[in-house]
Amino acid sequence: MEIICGRDYEHVSFKAANAIVRQITLKPDSVLGLATGSTPIRTYEYLVEMYQDGGLNFANVSTINLDEYRGLCAENKHSYHYYMEDKLFSHINIDRKRTHIPDGAELDAAKACADYDEIIRACGGIDLQILGLGHNGHIGFNEPGEVFTKGTHCVKLAQSTIDANARFFANIEEVPKEAYTMGIQSIMQAKKIIVLVSGEDKKDIVKRAFFGAITPEVPASVLQLHQDVILIGDEAALSECYIEKD
Ligand code: GLP
Repeated sequence: MEIICGRDYEHVSFKAANAIVRQITLKPDSVLGLATGSTPIRTYEYLVEMYQDGGLNFANVSTINLDEYRGLCAENKHSYHYYMEDKLFSHINIDRKRTHIPDGAELDAAKACADYDEIIRACGGIDLQILGLGHNGHIGFNEPGEVFTKGTHCVKLAQSTIDANARFFANIEEVPKEAYTMGIQSIMQAKKIIVLVSGEDKKDIVKRAFFGAITPEVPASVLQLHQDVILIGDEAALSECYIEKD
């Protein structure tokens, strides 16, 4: 695992955006695995800026998002469909037929998940997966305690996740209790993974996930087993980690 320490959120986002630009430049038909949450927002803004400056072409890029709330349709402002449109897709020349997010409006969980696994398979796997990190170590919506071998599945969100995500909703009752998420197995099959972390509130979970025991209790700890992971964090998020300086 490689660790890159940026000064602050801005610097982390800039480095993450550059890694994505590099991926698209080297392979214009890349399949990008994309995350939501607050951490990647500035990264997406950088990508939009680079696209508008003429340096990037998304025409042949495909995207596969990690997760979506079960029960929210694409038009719902709290859905990850809406987030991706708002933060990235509507600002770039990506072909919507090449963008994929689990179908939150499909209430038949088995169908929604099987359909999504088929989409991931048909895309030929993920070249570069971007991940955020939940305070309890979740990646996507893979909550603590689940086996590492799952594909896309429906999860009951942990109370701590519902509490953390309540800030995006008018009140906590509105936060969906379930979500569809790409499984750890599909995440681990990505050729390359970049994990973005920022802020002091992430320092303890960063330490547990990347320097602690590999255990389903900390889902992100499985990433220690991946052959090509880059952790990009700011000084605050990495403050509990030992990083060799050259
Ligand atoms: C959310 C998302 C994850 C995200 C994580 C961290 O629940 N499902 O994909 O990485 O929580 O979010 P944030 O970046 O806002 O801390």
